[in-house]
Amino acid sequence: MSTYRRHSVSKCVCHRVSFQELKDEAVRRNLSSCNDLIQAGLCGGSCTMCHPYVQKMLHTGETEFIPGDFHYSSDS
Ligand code: FES
Repeated sequence: MSTYRRHSVSKCVCHRVSFQELKDEAVRRNLSSCNDLIQAGLCGGSCTMCHPYVQKMLHTGETEFIPGDFHYSSDS
């Protein structure tokens, strides 16, 4: 396992759900925002640390991130 994968951010820890599972559920339920996922009870209602990663996931489709790498450009 690479260092990147071992230290990557890939889930909402509080809800024990991976970003891949959240992405799949967002597509299945047609949920398009972090708030939509929170309101559906799928993630993010506790510590909120996953929110910026979930937002990036929804915009880029990525499901695994380097810690702190949650900034994105909508132009890219
Ligand atoms: S990591 Fe998602 S609410 Fe805490």
